[in-house]
Amino acid sequence: MKLNDALTARISSAKQEHLLRYFDALTEKEQADFAAQLEEVDFAALPELVENYVLNRPHITIPDDLGPAPYYPLSPRDDAQKKLYLDAVSCGEKLIRAGRVACLTVAGGQGTRLGFDGPKGTFPIGPVTGRSLFAYFAGGIRRTEKKYGVKIVWYLMTSRLNHEATVDFFRKNDYFGLDADQVFFFTQGTMPAIGYDGKLLMNAKNSLALSPDGHGGTLLALRKSGALDKMKRDGVDTISYFQVDNPLVPVIDPKFIGLHHLTGSQMSAVMLAKTNAMEKLGNFCVSQNRLQIIEYSDLPKELAEKTLPDGTLAFIAGSPAIHVIDRTFVETLTAGGKLQLPWHRADKKIPFIGQDGNLVSPESPNGVKLESFIFDALPLAEKTMVLECDRAEVFAPTKNPTGVDSVESCRAMLIDRDCRRLRSAGVKIGDGAQIEIDPALAVDAADVAELVAARNISEIASGEKVVID
Ligand code: UD1
Repeated sequence: MKLNDALTARISSAKQEHLLRYFDALTEKEQADFAAQLEEVDFAALPELVENYVLNRPHITIPDDLGPAPYYPLSPRDDAQKKLYLDAVSCGEKLIRAGRVACLTVAGGQGTRLGFDGPKGTFPIGPVTGRSLFAYFAGGIRRTEKKYGVKIVWYLMTSRLNHEATVDFFRKNDYFGLDADQVFFFTQGTMPAIGYDGKLLMNAKNSLALSPDGHGGTLLALRKSGALDKMKRDGVDTISYFQVDNPLVPVIDPKFIGLHHLTGSQMSAVMLAKTNAMEKLGNFCVSQNRLQIIEYSDLPKELAEKTLPDGTLAFIAGSPAIHVIDRTFVETLTAGGKLQLPWHRADKKIPFIGQDGNLVSPESPNGVKLESFIFDALPLAEKTMVLECDRAEVFAPTKNPTGVDSVESCRAMLIDRDCRRLRSAGVKIGDGAQIEIDPALAVDAADVAELVAARNISEIASGEKVVID
């Protein structure tokens, strides 16, 4: 097979001829697969990417006017705000009941940091049952459906690394009680890894070293997969967005949805008070009246540690990566099938095919992976809104095996949340009891109070392991 001339020309003008070194020795099928992969690369844009992100390190400029972002506080400041919050809850509930809200989970990541071999969402996080992260979200969706008498579609973004394994897991688990047609799987795009010399790396003679393009890729993938069209057909205009690593998240929070709507925001975000200046959370900032999130690794230490006269951190607002996004905002951002979000560079050890055609696994970083971040869409919105939430109710990330943001801390927070709700419904709980309430039965304290009354639960003994399902 001969590679088509236009593609060959694009490859040469991007100075990437090395990609074709083994082409003639490949089988017809290998050639066809590789040609299809090469067709997807934007070779015209490559020289600029190489120049700005690989040969030179992108400079993170912190604007002079950068300040902490304003937000709606957890407890209302005055009577007017109290009324606004109550109105937000009823507005959110109305939107959910009318079928205008869908869920979106970004699940393109593997469980590598957890030392787990498989899609992160399949990780057994349930403190007593070992139910998976995916099962938590599915349960929350089922309970929300029942509460509001509505069918909710769950948009689930996978990556090429984990798509099949994810879909298989859902099939094997009968979609966790959801209908198969209400889980809309779609796959994010990829970016080729670039060696420090500016040449694309290959991980086989007929394959580029590709990696997921970051959760910023969600936006374009929503368009390309037909998800946006489906939302429009279904009358969905509001997207409840969360990450696969956080089983404590309310899959749809009526107050957050309602406040987003009442304030006319296009993209909203939940904020938490950071536990310390260097906590690994994105920081909510404003510059030129635009909201933005600056990653923990990019905010200069002196700003992260800056305090107000009362001693609290000036940049107190951290992001648990929970958003509400208008469907029409995503449509506008991705009009024409293109989306310009900045790239973020990560230096990585990337296995590659050497001159002799053998795979080399480098011992130190040898190239760059580029990712875009969904929160870089915030400054592109005309109107945004940030709402403070209670960490204990919304955020228990599973990022590490032990320590901070770990499997251990996440399980402890899930147990604490359920204990808190049971206690406030009058249940006596002894020390060290391990409790797991089926998420398909309860998404809030009122649900737990109902359960307690219906099942006559009054006491759980010390050290007991209890599953309420
Ligand atoms: C992320 C946020 C950070 C936030 C924190 C809260 C980024 C860059 N930073 O940090 O601001 O405070 O979460 O927990 O996101 N994912 C994909 N496809 C990709 C890359 C990631 O679907 O190509 C998904 C992962 O499956 C995961 C989520 O995005 O659900 C977050 O990715 P991760 O790389 O773990 O981000 P953090 O560094 O934990």
